[in-house]
Amino acid sequence: MRRILFLSVLLGLLTACDNTPKPPSERATAATAMPADPALAQVYDTSCKLCHANPASGAPLSGDRAAWRPRVAQGADTLLDHSINGYNGMPPMGLCMQCSEEQFLGLISFMAGVELPQ
Ligand code: HEC
Repeated sequence: MRRILFLSVLLGLLTACDNTPKPPSERATAATAMPADPALAQVYDTSCKLCHANPASGAPLSGDRAAWRPRVAQGADTLLDHSINGYNGMPPMGLCMQCSEEQFLGLISFMAGVELPQ
């Protein structure tokens, strides 16, 4: 229950100040894109999407390949490490406490729009 409350407060905060200029098309893609795998889509919808589909969060947006390119260049191990342990505004586990390493890699591949070596 407390977790739901926390998430709704967080969502409220994130949507309250959405004033970063971004092309409308990119915004629409990030807002509606979903992983093809239903289980992954479910996880994405309740965790990563809160920030990675919200330009105001400062997170690289889902499908924004240009924003992801330098991050992907760090390698899958670093991306996985930053997903699990957190990185600046990126919270540890990306708010998905039950996610496996495989799921994180799947989610990152989806958001970055590239296949990560598993
Ligand atoms: C509360 C907001 C929030 C949530 C939820 C969130 N992220 Fe992030 N994420 C961020 C922000 C902000 C950054 C950019 C951090 C930076 O570069 O300073 C980021 C960056 C990343 C990066 C790039 C790290 C790097 O090394 O450049 C990865 C990978 C990532 N997130 C994965 C995920 C995954 C997977 C999920 C869902 C399980 C998730 N995030 C959920 C906010 C979030």
